[in-house]
Amino acid sequence: MNTDRYATEFVIQENLRENQFNRIWSHDLKDVFADVAQYYDRANNVAALWTINGLRKKFIDCIELQSGQKALDVCAGTNVIGIDLLSKQPDLEMYAVDRSSAMQRVGGERARKLGFNINSTIHDVHELPFPDNHFDVVTLQYASRHLRVVEVFEEIKRVLKPGGHFYHCDMLRPANKLIEQAYYLYLRASVGFTAWLFGSNNASLSCKTYFIDALKAFYSVEELSKLLREIGFEDVHGTGMLGGTVGFHKAMLPLDKN
Ligand SMILES: C[S@@+](CC[C@H](N)C(=O)[O-])C[C@H]1O[C@@H](n2cnc3c(N)ncnc32)[C@H](O)[C@@H]1O
Repeated sequence: MNTDRYATEFVIQENLRENQFNRIWSHDLKDVFADVAQYYDRANNVAALWTINGLRKKFIDCIELQSGQKALDVCAGTNVIGIDLLSKQPDLEMYAVDRSSAMQRVGGERARKLGFNINSTIHDVHELPFPDNHFDVVTLQYASRHLRVVEVFEEIKRVLKPGGHFYHCDMLRPANKLIEQAYYLYLRASVGFTAWLFGSNNASLSCKTYFIDALKAFYSVEELSKLLREIGFEDVHGTGMLGGTVGFHKAMLPLDKN
């Protein structure tokens, strides 16, 4: 992270996040997603009290697509976003990148069964293995909390064409302190219950407190909007859902991005 370019608050926060979570991000989470791949979507649905599909529909509704565009889903997991984008615009050239081959195997099978082609790359998203100015649209859902987010957003900026759009959705830190405290109580119960219900392995069980700690150290809707502007996006619109526990962001690159 180039510390001269960013407000001190982001430099401090990103350093804190990296120092606190680097080991989990680099090692433990790989085992978690290898473990959960087969039941990830069902478990997510239970943990989020069946709100996940409705939220995703709202997110997909915000995404503007045109015929023949190239779209990349970053941290694509089981390809839920890629499949929804292809359902909305079947002639998209759709790409997915994720470091978990287990998650992408499940996602690839699901896409094929529906007759969709998603070009999959297994790679760490801190470096996106794509040329500059390559995609019209990039999406990233439910993964930024687990990333050195400035580095990944800078990579997204690099691979997006001038005038291209970035759509982001994640669990965020609610700005309201009361909602924040209630949210963590709910998450503690829900993560424990879901892990028990789906028989999660030790890797997932050991990350139970991480999922809440990662949110505590993450950004609110407004903070994420500010960060996207600092990275160089324009027309940044952030929308908080469910009391700011989930946020959608839409951001555009200027035509003279380079
Ligand atoms: C919570 S899942 C979200 C999957 C999908 N975007 C969705 O909305 O269902 C997070 C995904 O991020 C991936 N991931 C986490 N850190 C990553 C990294 N550094 N590089 C690539 N993928 C990563 C995991 O493998 C996992 O598939």
